[in-house]
Amino acid sequence: MTIAFGCDHAALQLKQEIMEFAKSLGHSPKDYGTFTEERADYPEYAKKVANAVADGECDLGILVCGTGVGMSIAANKVKGIRAVVCSEPFSAKLSREHNDTNILCLGARVIGSEFAKMIVEIWLSSKFQEGRHISRVKMFE
Ligand code: RB5
Repeated sequence: MTIAFGCDHAALQLKQEIMEFAKSLGHSPKDYGTFTEERADYPEYAKKVANAVADGECDLGILVCGTGVGMSIAANKVKGIRAVVCSEPFSAKLSREHNDTNILCLGARVIGSEFAKMIVEIWLSSKFQEGRHISRVKMFE
């Protein structure tokens, strides 16, 4: 899959590590910034990644900031986006299976990089289960 990536200054290193990891899993990462450790406003990058996913330019998105919280709030403002902030794999898996999330948000100041990779791997490999979940997801719109 083509995965859109975005981060702010608090999460540059984690984003880069996860992009490499996604590549090793066979995915194609696309970087929407930020590209340096200079202070950056997370809503700007959340919007870029959310638009890329909503427009179909990318299949899924991953956003990283200090907590993942600001990124998820901002990304969810874009129509068609279902962003989840996760600090553990169980919610990551269920967010795909039940809620059809299309953006995963992670906190670089909350979790370590190996745990983040575990969450990413589970989120990317989980699939929407459809069935009874379809009508509920449609209600978001
Ligand atoms: C930046 O200091 C920090 O506020 C940001 O990375 C994020 O945690 C916001 O939700």
